Amino acid sequence: MGYAINVALIKGDGIGVDVASAAIHVMEAALAKVGEPKPAYDNIQAGAGYYREAGRDIEVDGEKRAGDADAIFLGAIGLPSVRYADGTEVSPHLRLRDRFGLYAGVRPVKAYPNAPQRLADPRARAIDLVILRESTEGLFYSAAAHGRSLVVTDDEVQDVLRITRPTTTRLHHFAFGLAQKRKQRGKSGKLTCVDKANVFTSMAFFRKIFDEVRTGYPDIEVGYNYVDAQALDLVRKPWDFDVLVTENMFGDILSDLAGGLVGGMGMAACAEIGDSVGLFQPAHGSAPDIIGQDKANPLAAILSAGLMLDYLAEKLGNQRLADAAMLIDEAVDSGFAQNLLRPMEFGGDMGTIAVTEQVATLVEA
Ligand SMILES: NC(=O)c1ccc[n+]([C@@H]2O[C@H](COP(=O)([O-])OP(=O)(O)OC[C@H]3O[C@@H](n4cnc5c(N)ncnc54)[C@H](O)[C@@H]3O)[C@@H](O)[C@H]2O)c1
Repeated sequence: MGYAINVALIKGDGIGVDVASAAIHVMEAALAKVGEPKPAYDNIQAGAGYYREAGRDIEVDGEKRAGDADAIFLGAIGLPSVRYADGTEVSPHLRLRDRFGLYAGVRPVKAYPNAPQRLADPRARAIDLVILRESTEGLFYSAAAHGRSLVVTDDEVQDVLRITRPTTTRLHHFAFGLAQKRKQRGKSGKLTCVDKANVFTSMAFFRKIFDEVRTGYPDIEVGYNYVDAQALDLVRKPWDFDVLVTENMFGDILSDLAGGLVGGMGMAACAEIGDSVGLFQPAHGSAPDIIGQDKANPLAAILSAGLMLDYLAEKLGNQRLADAAMLIDEAVDSGFAQNLLRPMEFGGDMGTIAVTEQVATLVEA
């Protein structure tokens, strides 16, 4: 049987290597179950370990090869001890976002039964929202490629918060489209614009474009929140939110907070989508404190593989890939419901391998 999909695979550093392998294992089980062949992989060397060995952070033609695949899957990149000359960490994945315009950072936040709830309120069981983090500009604009900081002297450094009309327009259209999709799937589909429009001109501009785009989506209920109030509300009443659209740095911080509400970083899946390229990865890093101990929770990576299959179903017009994505979601859901998934991250007895095998078994059932 020929290959249905081509995946550029960047396993990266630390637990990234283990959780990427776990995600591939479960994805292949789901594909087999729906009668699809294994993907073809283009393994691309990149990351802090590779930088230490090779003096560069990604293979010479690695960025181009990544963009040529149907989708990119990444484990995690970075080790705090390995840095560029300017003191920042090795981060070729930020260049991939920049190069391929991966503006839509999709970060689902969902409470699973029997997974830890950090909030005592019983409504925390119903947390099911998505943070849409713009991922190419905002306050990360300076970080995406070196040399973009506005002022760098030994007395002062200034980074730029950049909001552009084309990217923000695409982002808000993506947000409304996502809200519509979720509404069709029985969620509220309410879309909240999270900004700091009371203080920053750039953020007032972000909201202005939101209001322009919203006129095309009269079916979607909208709300507004300043980012500081949103941080409060994510602790106080996260069950009231469905889709949040926000600037890059705000989304970076809020999505860790939200990941914490439903367990920890090991549950935080992530898709980064542009007009023609999609990159999928767990939102967590290489977790140096647990490297090589079989302690990493692979579910964020596994759920990210599900997001990748959903994306590929639409991109390649293949419904079976969407069915495979659904199998992964259902396996995680029912695994928690039956108490068959007990990751060590939450004080359970199952390491990376045991969790992976269990999800694969549930997918195959
Ligand atoms: N997208 C990425 O590749 C990415 C994202 C964030 C951080 N990083 C890099 O990763 C390195 C470590 O960063 P950090 O420590 O700030 O963040 P981290 O996400 O790696 O770890 C934060 C904490 O969460 C825990 N954790 C993370 N993922 C887990 C999992 N799957 N299962 C169980 N526990 C998990 C870790 O053990 C640690 O205690 C740094 O070099 C950083 O630059 C990379």
